[in-house]
Amino acid sequence: MIVTTAQLYKVAYKKFAVGAYNINNLEQTMGLFRGNMQSKAPFIIQLSKGARGYTDKRMLEAIIRTAEQIFPEAIFAVHLDHGDEQTCYDCIDSGFYSSVMIDASHEPFAENVAITKRVVDRAHAKGISVEAELGMLGGVEEDIKVDEGHACLTNPDEAVEFVKQTGCDSLAAAIGTSHGAYKFKGQQSLRFDVIEAISQKIPGMPIVMHGSSSVPVEEVQRINAAGGKLDPSARGVNENEYLPAAKLGVTKVNIDTDGRLVWMRVHREFFRDKPADFDFRPPGKIFMQAYADFIAHKNEKLGSAGQLDAVRASL
Ligand code: G3H
Ligand code: 13P
Ligand code: ZN
Repeated sequence: MIVTTAQLYKVAYKKFAVGAYNINNLEQTMGLFRGNMQSKAPFIIQLSKGARGYTDKRMLEAIIRTAEQIFPEAIFAVHLDHGDEQTCYDCIDSGFYSSVMIDASHEPFAENVAITKRVVDRAHAKGISVEAELGMLGGVEEDIKVDEGHACLTNPDEAVEFVKQTGCDSLAAAIGTSHGAYKFKGQQSLRFDVIEAISQKIPGMPIVMHGSSSVPVEEVQRINAAGGKLDPSARGVNENEYLPAAKLGVTKVNIDTDGRLVWMRVHREFFRDKPADFDFRPPGKIFMQAYADFIAHKNEKLGSAGQLDAVRASL
């Protein structure tokens, strides 16, 4: 059943975080639904502009609608990740998305507010939730690359004004993470002081954490042992910080890179060990189960595992 992100946040806020997983294809979708059913968790499927254009946006929609029939117990939101204004309108008008993210965080404050407000008005008229971003993460997202020098943490006082003026349903905040596989050099920690300040100043507002992959060291080692060339010093978010952050108001946790690493590890190891094989279904099957196990593991760390019935009861 497709629900809005706001419906999920109502149950999750300050208790657990809902996993928001990016998908691009059939295998990821199957693994995603299986993993969430395995761990009895509500979840958010997020589609980036790149994912929508990978084949055809209608293809992903059809895959997700079919998965909904195969897994009738599933409760999830369908969310546009890092949308620009036009893509938000396309999703709002599609009748398929229950949530959109407008990302105008690279614009000056007043322009960010103006764009976000226009999207909020159109989305709310159709009962669709809106996530908006203030502050700037480092790393690569869509076709925009923000180098670490230009990344800036969210200012909690500005966040108060931003939420008041836009009416957004959740706030994507820059709290020390960045997109991609290379987040931290040396010490690896979220800015709990910033999370706490935002949640004190805007009580009840779900905070969204982008760039939440943990980039497991053993995953990077296995990929490199199978021919990959990832920087072995790559570090992500400590998974044991997801739940403490959730208790402070981080209600949506975005994970994409870690899922890509699972794909990379399964396929590199498969073809290293079976160099004469060329059928893609055997590694595809291994990937779907590995991805399901990965999702179930993340949900345990987020505290969303076992929360499906609580969400169902709240609808
Ligand atoms: O934040 C970006 C997400 O990881 C989506 O990545 O734009 O390459 O699909 P993508
Ligand atoms: P990661 O690159 O850490 O997986 O972050 C994904 C993300 O924030 C998608 O919006
Ligand atoms: Zn993001």
